[in-house]
Amino acid sequence: MRVLFVCLGNICRSPTAEGVLRHKLRLAGLDNLVEVDSVGTGDWHVGKGVDPRTAEAALQRGYDLSALRGRQVALADFARFDLILAMDKQNLQHLQRMRPAASTAEVDLFLRRYQSARDEVPDPYYGGPAGFDEVLDLVEHACDALVHELRRRL
Ligand code: 4NP
Repeated sequence: MRVLFVCLGNICRSPTAEGVLRHKLRLAGLDNLVEVDSVGTGDWHVGKGVDPRTAEAALQRGYDLSALRGRQVALADFARFDLILAMDKQNLQHLQRMRPAASTAEVDLFLRRYQSARDEVPDPYYGGPAGFDEVLDLVEHACDALVHELRRRL
């Protein structure tokens, strides 16, 4: 199984989800069976590390995001990944417009799929420090449900 998280810049929300899911898959003993990556719909941060505020908030909870680098979503991702999960509706719309007709990837809104009380992970980029913790809360909760789904499907 291959899972791809998608946000706008690939420096806050989707790398957080990538780090959290990698961690939870390791704990579940599924890390050898699932490949995880993240991308942005935009190209501003290609090749760059994650936002320092994201890195710090994640590290506080034990997730090391220092190795992650920004990448922009590409057409090839629709052939490579089984599950493509968007952080908000704007990202989802971008993916749906871009998706090749032949792709069998499931493209979905991350939180909605896992029955969270919210359906979008709010963009923390222009807000205060609490926004980065909120991203982690939402992502951790949804990743627990995602790990359950992956365990069932593997
Ligand atoms: P992300 O947050 O989509 O969660 O990575 C953003 C990061 C950068 C920008 C927007 C959102 N930006 O406009 O540069």
